[in-house]
Amino acid sequence: MRLATFRLPLSLCALLLWPLASHAAPDAIPRDVHSYANTEAFRVSHAALDLRADFTRQILSGYVDLSVEQLDPKATELILDTRDLSVKTIEITQPKARILSFRVGKRDGILGAPLHIALGQLSDKTSQKNFVVRIKYETTPQASGLQWLTPSQTAGKKQPFLYSQSQAVHARSWIPLQDTPQVRLTYSAKITTPPQLRAVMSADNDPAAPRSGVYQFKMPQAIPSYLIALAVGDVQFKAIGPRTGVYAEPTTLTAAAHEFADVESMLIACEKMFGPYRWGRYDLLILPPSFMWGGMENPRLSFITPTVIAGDRSLVSLIAHELAHSWSGNLVTNNSWDSVWLNEGFTTYLERRIVEAIYGADRRAMEDMLGMQSLKRDIAELNEKGDQAVTRLRTALKGRDPDDAFSDVSYEKGRFFIGFLESRMGREKLDLFLRDYFAHFSFQSVSTEQFLAYFQAQVLSQPNAKVTLSEVLAWIDAPGIPTTVVEPQSDAFSKVDIERSAWLDGKRSARQLNTAAWNTQQWLHFLNNLPKDISAAKLQELDEAFKFTTATNNEIVHSWLKDAIAANYAPAYPRLTTYLNTIGRRKLVKPLYEELVKTAAGMQRAKTIYATARPLYQVPLAEQLDKLLNAATPAK
Ligand code: BES
Ligand code: ZN
Repeated sequence: MRLATFRLPLSLCALLLWPLASHAAPDAIPRDVHSYANTEAFRVSHAALDLRADFTRQILSGYVDLSVEQLDPKATELILDTRDLSVKTIEITQPKARILSFRVGKRDGILGAPLHIALGQLSDKTSQKNFVVRIKYETTPQASGLQWLTPSQTAGKKQPFLYSQSQAVHARSWIPLQDTPQVRLTYSAKITTPPQLRAVMSADNDPAAPRSGVYQFKMPQAIPSYLIALAVGDVQFKAIGPRTGVYAEPTTLTAAAHEFADVESMLIACEKMFGPYRWGRYDLLILPPSFMWGGMENPRLSFITPTVIAGDRSLVSLIAHELAHSWSGNLVTNNSWDSVWLNEGFTTYLERRIVEAIYGADRRAMEDMLGMQSLKRDIAELNEKGDQAVTRLRTALKGRDPDDAFSDVSYEKGRFFIGFLESRMGREKLDLFLRDYFAHFSFQSVSTEQFLAYFQAQVLSQPNAKVTLSEVLAWIDAPGIPTTVVEPQSDAFSKVDIERSAWLDGKRSARQLNTAAWNTQQWLHFLNNLPKDISAAKLQELDEAFKFTTATNNEIVHSWLKDAIAANYAPAYPRLTTYLNTIGRRKLVKPLYEELVKTAAGMQRAKTIYATARPLYQVPLAEQLDKLLNAATPAK
């Protein structure tokens, strides 16, 4: 029937007709479900911080001056986000000084507590429109967004270390502000530290600044609050390229600069494909091993786990990932955690393109395969848990902790969505689209709906569009992996499969396997795909041939230890204990505890290890493991 062509449901029409971001009035955007801030009434445009890092008390103390614009002339109360902050006084400093009264609302486990600031009525309406609020406050030692390390928890063992991790909802635990990616602000900071330490921020770091104990920063580009970042420690700088370099503790500096030597070429490759790098310098900060994340894309200064320093540059796709966020995430930002795939999915796609440009198509195909395998495992697990809702790209996380809802879906499903678009549009057209998208929405925060409207205008509505709206919506709103997926292929992995089968079928011993030329990704593919019920004796044979228990690549050791726990291969346990006592990266640590708690003996082992390891872990990870170790009931 002619007339019965594709008909959009009403709500979808409304969604697609939604104005593009640059024209949308701010009040058209609903409040972020992960923030208490009344962003429809006020907008913070700048934060000027003056903070002292007190390592004895493990607190930051000082004040922040927030430049606020009033959008709703009737509003009399400014609501900010806080979490475990001790607020001392609040005053307006400009245009006319005045002390304000305030109250801190009820604390929520995920969101923290709203800070209600009574502004009252100012007589002069025009002067009220823009004002500066000064909030004097202190953080608490348990601040979820700060990690205070004692000297023994660092690489050098001599000086303490402090770093922040604001994504997703932790900026509010060290700065009272509108803690939502919907709001972008510039910032400046004066940070006072013990004189032997250096402070660095996601701002204009000066490697030549003398170690004085007082450091000044400016971030003149408007960023979302989750990208405000600070670290203080015994860090030194080494240049890599003209725009790139690495900050690290002295004992790690040389190895890090060697490991990440390709970062300048990655930057150049990414610019060539996706448009200019807009942030000036791009440096890396290597954190102590307790850092819960692999990397965090803090602008101009990505924070990086030391666990990727393998000696052979085999794990540097992580740097490509954090660098790629300089386009997808930092330049164009998800406006709520429900559209985090706009950050992580695009970035994972860009990451793979950088890997292909620098290390070749084979390596890229292997990383795509590992990504797809991991995505399928995550989706299966989420389905098993009855949590199918978060296997969609567009989520509804109201009432949930965005850190907890974290999985490979936003990363790899997002990446394979862009891969699907590439397969239809062709690489050239896709790259043009992406370049335009980054330019069009630069320094803005966007929702999935805004992306869709833009994609509709630029691609779907064009004559000869090779993609349909329903195909796109299947990726965005349907659970699981759509049928239009382009599955990755890797010959290098087929070779691994052949060797693995020959060994499992008893045709060849482990020592006879043809593994001499395998790279790290091939080993990961080998270990990640052993049969679930493999015996300890079989693992022993592998260990004797390949020395996995004493291997140095942290990813390989992780996969090995996971297999070892499942098979109860006892000779790996001492290494497991050391591993969990020295590494705090969630991706490497949590799956091992999850494997342990499946049996009663494993649970006991997990608890013993955790008793000494817990102080090393970052606050949100420790909270998650507390739950796991107390709640899990071993099946056998
Ligand atoms: N932005 C993320 C880290 C993050 C996500 C922090 C959500 C807090 C909440 C970062 O870019 C990232 O994705 N890191 C990955 C590495 C990457 C190679 C997949 C990580 O930490 O494992
Ligand atoms: Zn990321």
